[in-house]
Amino acid sequence: MSAWKVSAVWVVLLAVVLMAGLAMADMSEETKVKKVKGKKVCTRGWECGTWSKYCCNETISDFFQTYQFENLFAKRNLPEAHAAYFWDYQSFITASSLFQHLGFCTTGGKLMGMRELAAFLGHVGSKTSCGYGVATGGPFAWGLCYKREMSPSQSYCDDSYKYTYPCAPGAEYYGRGAIPIYWNYNYGAAGEALKEDLLNHPEYIEQNATLAFTAAIWKWMTPLKKGQPSAHQAFVGDWKPTKNDTLSKRVPGFGATMNILYGDGVCGKGDVDDMNNIMSHYLYYLDLLGVGREEAGSSETLTCAEQVPFNPSNPGSSSS
Ligand SMILES: *[C@@H]1O[C@H](CO)[C@@H](O)[C@H](O)[C@H]1NC(C)=O
Ligand SMILES: *[C@@H]1O[C@H](CO)[C@@H](O)[C@H](O)[C@H]1NC(C)=O
Ligand SMILES: *[C@@H]1O[C@H](CO)[C@@H](O)[C@H](O)[C@H]1NC(C)=O
Repeated sequence: MSAWKVSAVWVVLLAVVLMAGLAMADMSEETKVKKVKGKKVCTRGWECGTWSKYCCNETISDFFQTYQFENLFAKRNLPEAHAAYFWDYQSFITASSLFQHLGFCTTGGKLMGMRELAAFLGHVGSKTSCGYGVATGGPFAWGLCYKREMSPSQSYCDDSYKYTYPCAPGAEYYGRGAIPIYWNYNYGAAGEALKEDLLNHPEYIEQNATLAFTAAIWKWMTPLKKGQPSAHQAFVGDWKPTKNDTLSKRVPGFGATMNILYGDGVCGKGDVDDMNNIMSHYLYYLDLLGVGREEAGSSETLTCAEQVPFNPSNPGSSSS
């Protein structure tokens, strides 16, 4: 055989191996479809592994990849960050896989999915930022700088929950996580939902980025009270405001997510910095994701400056 023929054989072999590799990569994200009672449901790889209508479209990793995570949270591993090498893309995607079949960033098609991603991460970025006005890269480049409240002024033990969520001896329930959790009863409720003993071990949240993201997504997806929407439902429009809501200027959109998560900590107080900071992270991430801030929603749905808070005084509204 001539040298040319030999190398031709190698090229063909290489091509076969490469194609097999591609086929395998495809298969892991293959959408499986079936009908249940006339309704189309799907699974899509490990990310959306439970039969659901929400798994029929793109999943998060189809429109959000490692380099984009690195872009959004560009400064998080610098020496001056307080949680360097804690947060990473894989823990976020792993955490999201518990909620994508429920519609987390998989509701309403790719554009809505990317908007919800920017909204959720906007909350995360603003609550974990150590950016400030003249910080390098600007004030919004410093999300995921923290994983816990640095100088807690108390241990956040509310004794009135001693029968349901008693504080463990020595445990501190200061803010931890991607959308920080405060107080024994919130650790207790999150722990129950996630089947982790967070009441006795609140420190798990600052030791495990997957758990820290999981708790934050759970909070985003879960209504705080019966009859109220979750932040997810309010954002994607899967919520019909009541007459009271309308009178209280509560409309579906990003503003309502701030109202649900922080209540009178940031909403109904006019154009305050705490609210603008969260909004600005959302807009900044929309730009970085290539969606563009013009897709943020109308200005009346974007803010909660004039909204009456869903729940008066919601502890945990303060930032790290
Ligand atoms: C799937 O995507 C289409 C078009 O982008 C959208 O209209 C539909 O609502 C999405 N399905 C679900 C279950 O959100
Ligand atoms: C982090 O928590 C998840 C559960 O949310 C668990 O599956 C995983 O094993 C934990 N990782 C470590 C290193 O403990
Ligand atoms: C409507 O709002 C009023 C005043 O804010 C409140 O007292 C009442 O309980 C609300 N009704 C419902 C059904 O939530």
